[in-house]
Amino acid sequence: MQANVVHVSELNKSFGSRQVLFDLSLNIERGEMVALIGSSGSGKSTLLRHLSGLTRGDGGARKKDSSHEDSSHVDVLGNSIQRGGRLHRSVRQYRSGIGYIFQQFNLVGRMSVMNNVLIGSLGRIPRWRGVCGLFSSAERQQALHALERVGMAEYAERRASTLSGGQQQRVAIARALTQRAEIILADEPVASLDPESARKVMELLSEINAQDKTTVLVSLHQVDYARRYCPRTVALKQGRIHYNGPTLSLDDAHLARIYGAETAAIGIHANEISASPDAGLQAAVLRTASRLA
Ligand SMILES: Nc1ncnc2c1ncn2[C@@H]1O[C@H](COP(=O)(O)OP(=O)(O)OP(=O)(O)O)[C@@H](O)[C@H]1O
Ligand SMILES: [Mg+2]
Repeated sequence: MQANVVHVSELNKSFGSRQVLFDLSLNIERGEMVALIGSSGSGKSTLLRHLSGLTRGDGGARKKDSSHEDSSHVDVLGNSIQRGGRLHRSVRQYRSGIGYIFQQFNLVGRMSVMNNVLIGSLGRIPRWRGVCGLFSSAERQQALHALERVGMAEYAERRASTLSGGQQQRVAIARALTQRAEIILADEPVASLDPESARKVMELLSEINAQDKTTVLVSLHQVDYARRYCPRTVALKQGRIHYNGPTLSLDDAHLARIYGAETAAIGIHANEISASPDAGLQAAVLRTASRLA
């Protein structure tokens, strides 16, 4: 079993003429819980999207030496998601081991909580059963168990749209459990939540990481949460890795450089709320989900 569940090497990304990720390399070992921080626009969501193959890196042309073949690659769970800006043809299948949690719109509002969680098992069952919404009693039992773990079993038959934001995030975590995700990519999962709900969500992620050895990469706007729950922090600044190491060693001087002196002066612990939830990733999950609705 290979130790690195995330292996990114020399990843570049441009939107039009604007480069937003620069020669980014990153390794994450199985069982780590890593915070991804950085100011708005630093590239956190873009990096997470590359890990799931929803965005392709730049092709070979960006290398200074044009005769040198592009060696950029993104491997997750030992699978090559993309290489040289080309997605692997089995990327959809590889995604089945990757759980996603977003800032909001995690669930299909018109579906029951139970059905939202059952979506997690779609990757493991025959396609026709998923399309017809036919789940076995064992699958339902697993989904219920996942809901129990996140403290949401009593809401199983409720429409997802009637839940609070924090409850929805817990159901999204139950879905990742049902999916048996080996890695959870969480893009600002607590940015829209009140402190108590945010704490519950971070504690659940931390518990799943500790008990199930699920690797967690979580982008956060609040450095406090990184400090409390994530042994390692990766900080992006303008598309480059600015810090990659123990969260405990991340001092105010680092933070001032990551976020700029102005932010440090007003206190980086302020609840910064991102205005850019990850529409692309959400859409991908909802497309899968809508087959059931
Ligand atoms: N589809 C796109 N088309 C053009 N530019 C994009 C696209 N997606 C992201 N960008 C740009 O890439 C840069 C990085 O964006 P990204 O969303 O990854 O930042 P972020 O760190 O997640 O920010 P936030 O904390 O606000 O969520 C930004 O300048 C953004 O405008
Ligand atoms: Mg983002």
